[in-house]
Amino acid sequence: MLLQGRTAFVTGGSGAVGSAIVRTFVAEGARVAFTYHDRADKALALADELQAGGATVRAYPLDVLDGKASQALDERVEKDLGPVDALVNNAGIAQVMPFALIEEEDWDLTMDVNVKGTFLVTKAFLRGMIRRKRGSIVNLGSLAGMRILEVPVHYATAKAAIMGFTISLAREIARYNIRVNAVIPGMLSGGVGLNVPDRQKEEYKKYCTMGRVGTPEETAKVIAFLASDHASYVNAQGIYIDGGI
Ligand SMILES: NC(=O)c1ccc[n+]([C@@H]2O[C@H](COP(=O)([O-])OP(=O)(O)OC[C@H]3O[C@@H](n4cnc5c(N)ncnc54)[C@H](OP(=O)(O)O)[C@@H]3O)[C@@H](O)[C@H]2O)c1
Repeated sequence: MLLQGRTAFVTGGSGAVGSAIVRTFVAEGARVAFTYHDRADKALALADELQAGGATVRAYPLDVLDGKASQALDERVEKDLGPVDALVNNAGIAQVMPFALIEEEDWDLTMDVNVKGTFLVTKAFLRGMIRRKRGSIVNLGSLAGMRILEVPVHYATAKAAIMGFTISLAREIARYNIRVNAVIPGMLSGGVGLNVPDRQKEEYKKYCTMGRVGTPEETAKVIAFLASDHASYVNAQGIYIDGGI
């Protein structure tokens, strides 16, 4: 098992990709703390199901824009499950709208949840990792931020920023034995991908060597690898999971 004996913290575990990450990490032997925002019912049902199967899993409410709450969770999770050595910044939002209709509030919310949220949660959990000189962080980028697809400009901008965050942080904290990588999923069958109009999905499949969208599970498996010691010499990377565009 890739993550035997590890404690992981996953934001947005109530979502499509987040719940696949939680399930995959549990299957790979990790103790998993994950967060939800609005969908407490989904999160608690997932935690109950996995606990019934013998896993050590806890769900916690968190708004990633609340830095103090993230800091408090770092301490709480350490007490409940042990010190976190794998952090996955997965929580994110996307709105499908043309540039002309993006209002300032839309821009701010998209940048805040996707980028500032990643900063605040990382800041909260990084202190302990630095103290222990051990950790792995995986951020959720998106093909939307990297290659030319017709996607909302604020979302593309936020996801491109995640790559700058990943690479610069990786360079700064490698000296503490902490790796920072990102995954760059293409279009997936669940989650924010569901909002994409059919015309754009067909266009995506046309340019994808595999002729299909990906799944949250296929994304989660790469994240588990990056979080594990099997990726001990992988740092400052963005790994494409897009079926070959
Ligand atoms: N699905 C795709 O096609 C795709 C492709 C590339 C990248 N991604 C990335 O994958 C990640 C997960 O997306 P998804 O597709 O799984 O979408 P999703 O199903 O909508 O899940 C989003 C998650 O983020 C949480 N969240 C939203 N706002 C939050 C906030 N302010 N504070 C804390 N948590 C918040 C949601 O919590 P609640 O549901 O509890 O409110 C949910 O758990 C995102 O970063 C997304 O950009 C997805």
